[in-house]
Amino acid sequence: MIELKNLSKSYNKGKVKAVNNLSLTVQPGEIFGFLGPNGAGKTTTIKMIVGLLKPDKGSIMLNGLCNQGHPLKCKSMIAYIPEDPEIYDRLTGLEYINFIGDVYGTPAKVRTTLTEKWSEIFGLTNAINQSIKSYSHGMRQKIILIGAIIARPEIFILDEPLTGLDPKSAHSLKEIMHEHCKQGKTLFFSTHIMEVAEKLCDRIGIINNGELMACGTMDELKYMSKNSESLENIFLEITEK
Ligand SMILES: Nc1ncnc2c1ncn2[C@@H]1O[C@H](COP(=O)(O)OP(=O)(O)OP(=O)(O)O)[C@@H](O)[C@H]1O
Ligand SMILES: [Mg+2]
Repeated sequence: MIELKNLSKSYNKGKVKAVNNLSLTVQPGEIFGFLGPNGAGKTTTIKMIVGLLKPDKGSIMLNGLCNQGHPLKCKSMIAYIPEDPEIYDRLTGLEYINFIGDVYGTPAKVRTTLTEKWSEIFGLTNAINQSIKSYSHGMRQKIILIGAIIARPEIFILDEPLTGLDPKSAHSLKEIMHEHCKQGKTLFFSTHIMEVAEKLCDRIGIINNGELMACGTMDELKYMSKNSESLENIFLEITEK
């Protein structure tokens, strides 16, 4: 469960208000889609949730624990897929996976089974022993995703995870997202792909200029916007106000 209360963050000594008094809750077992134009404040919000940025104001509770009071416990509950897949590129794919497995305490057998399964699905089997330096952008994303899967967290936070993935891998990722939510885990992701958000999410939040403009199920958003049927139209209507 993720509970954000009155979250605010600004940059450049208050000149850029990136997130302004944002409150929302994501229940266990829920897929929550976070939408907004470029520069709306999605990544800033996500970085505060995972503990990479400190909010100016407000609180973040993860499964009932405050992420500032219990930073390590909170981090151990989360797997985070960042916007830019910049990782330790001197390691091989497998060394990276084992490093993540050690950090999260995943048993060796589980680690091996999941790594074999997902490197096969993502077409990384032949590259797993190569240095990450030689990986393409999409391959880096995939190795980070495998790391997140073997971490087996309670909460997945993904910042534009589908960007740069080929259609087959994107399809597999959507299946993983579904699977984890069925197990009662919480999933929060940002995206610019309206069709994916519409199909995959239980609830959707739309942020613009740092403020949460709308939040709810697809039906609730449709009801709010009155004229719009598709999420794309709802998004355009809300963000152009
Ligand atoms: N490190 C920083 N220093 C100063 N301003 C920043 C910094 N990071 C983000 N910003 C500003 O904060 C605002 C929100 O940025 P953020 O990266 O959270 O947006 P976003 O919704 O993730 O956008 P995108 O869809 O392009 O990824 C923007 O105005 C951005 O220019
Ligand atoms: Mg971003």
